[in-house]
Amino acid sequence: MTHPDIHTLIQLVHETRPLITETENAKNVTVKGYADFVTMVDTSVQEFLKEKLFKIAPHVQFMGEENHMDQIDPKKPSWILDPIDGTTNLIFDYHHSAVSLAYYDGNRIQMGVVYNPFSGETFYASRGQGAFLDEKPIRVTKHSSLDQSLISIGTSPYDRELARENFRIFLEVFQKSLDIRRSGSAALDLAYVACGRLDGFFEKNLKPWDFAAGSVILEEAGGQITNDMGQPLNFCKNQNIVSSNGLIHEKLLECLCPLDGQSKNTEVDK
Ligand code: IPD
Ligand code: CA
Ligand code: CA
Repeated sequence: MTHPDIHTLIQLVHETRPLITETENAKNVTVKGYADFVTMVDTSVQEFLKEKLFKIAPHVQFMGEENHMDQIDPKKPSWILDPIDGTTNLIFDYHHSAVSLAYYDGNRIQMGVVYNPFSGETFYASRGQGAFLDEKPIRVTKHSSLDQSLISIGTSPYDRELARENFRIFLEVFQKSLDIRRSGSAALDLAYVACGRLDGFFEKNLKPWDFAAGSVILEEAGGQITNDMGQPLNFCKNQNIVSSNGLIHEKLLECLCPLDGQSKNTEVDK
């Protein structure tokens, strides 16, 4: 089967901009859980893209954050969409959120688009074709030691029981690296590792729509993304994500090694 055209996907994603920058919609908030919100922006962007994507490829399944109860067959093609990655940033008018859309062919992620409508930046990749930021090729950094590396952390804000272990790891990474950052959008964190604004990013218990698009962009930019045991990702499960320029990957994995030697929350059903 031929894959969809990446430029068609980019154009569709760009069409969501007015839905996102209309600030009144971001104030229409429903609480999903502790620190976990959905706004009218999230639902309207998802509905808009779901309908358009169905028109261009009716046979492709749809996995989106706001209808995650829908079952998909992991052996068949699927769209994987986070309509807004960085909803808390959106509610706080922080201007660091993104639409994250991936195309999964039933085996691998083949395409990814991560679009920040506030900066206007679009990160994208098709497997085997390289990664781009606004049509310019992007590449990961060449830093090979942690003390040269800027690392973004994800706090797993919806899993507060992970906080103690997370903050133990953050301290360790902070002490070994140049510095740490916390952005509030996992999709943009992965895109930033891809374009060399960061050397690495990790977060426990991310969902497929948080990392699907960013993973192919990062790999096409020469980077590496695995679970926290260094294994390939499963795009139908929640995962503990470790991403880097490749050169510091092993060192980052060593910092993440749990004290009891057991990785938790990897391979959690979505
Ligand atoms: C969240 C963001 C955040 C990360 C959370 C994600 P959402 O996605 O990516 O940076 O820390 O783990 O769930 O809820 O804004 O789509
Ligand atoms: Ca979201
Ligand atoms: Ca998300």
